[in-house]
Amino acid sequence: MSLSEREIRVVTDAAALASHTAEAFSRLARESIAAQGRFVVALAGGSTPKAAYGLLANEPYRSRLQWDKIHVFWGDERHVPPAHADSNYRMAHDAMLSKVNLPTANIHRIIAEQEAQQAADAYETTLRTFFALAAGELPRFDLVLLGMGPDGHTASLFPGTAAVHERTRLVAAPWVEKFNTFRITMTPPVLCNAAHIVFAAGGDDKAETLCQVLQGDYQPDLYPSQVITPTQGTLLWLVDEAAARLLV
Ligand code: 6PG
Repeated sequence: MSLSEREIRVVTDAAALASHTAEAFSRLARESIAAQGRFVVALAGGSTPKAAYGLLANEPYRSRLQWDKIHVFWGDERHVPPAHADSNYRMAHDAMLSKVNLPTANIHRIIAEQEAQQAADAYETTLRTFFALAAGELPRFDLVLLGMGPDGHTASLFPGTAAVHERTRLVAAPWVEKFNTFRITMTPPVLCNAAHIVFAAGGDDKAETLCQVLQGDYQPDLYPSQVITPTQGTLLWLVDEAAARLLV
């Protein structure tokens, strides 16, 4: 797949979603490490990626990957402490990070136990420092993993929120009315600047929304996942047959 192309890959079920996600992660990690000596990835939260993280924490991936050359960030985080059951950090830690030889210094979690805007500001500083960004420069992740909610949100870019249209900040702290809570999220300019973006979405409950996102009119306020188009990279949608049943 050449740069800036979009691929939609329909796989059979959740297990296939996990294996294709793990394989994409592994391939891109090996390519990035071979080319630049490191692999910088923004992990997705929610439930879908958990199985893929579990595969990566086990053979053959566990010993195949050079974990000391991998840096993990999060595309978004819930406004909870790291030990909270809803924490995206905790999900990745329990499923993968605690089981592989990834140096603690390579884990760049969102410090979400603090006030939400402070957490966003701090994470923005983390990004600027890690990527040694000049003013106005965007971080470029080697891979951004994303999921999609049944309402069309991705990361914590929810329908009707200003974060969907944020073009200046790297990290935002939107209030999410439907959950009555703040979230911390990377913004579209950061997510879209990745070399490779991989969505993984499965389940019948996402079929209607997926059809709108991929084949409907451009309505990002209704379907925020539509704002994720690579500025100079690739976009792979991994979807299972249940989620893809309405695609033409
Ligand atoms: C989160 C995720 C979110 C997730 C979607 C899909 O913090 O919840 O970042 O964007 O990817 O809600 O979640 P599922 O994989 O659980 O369906």
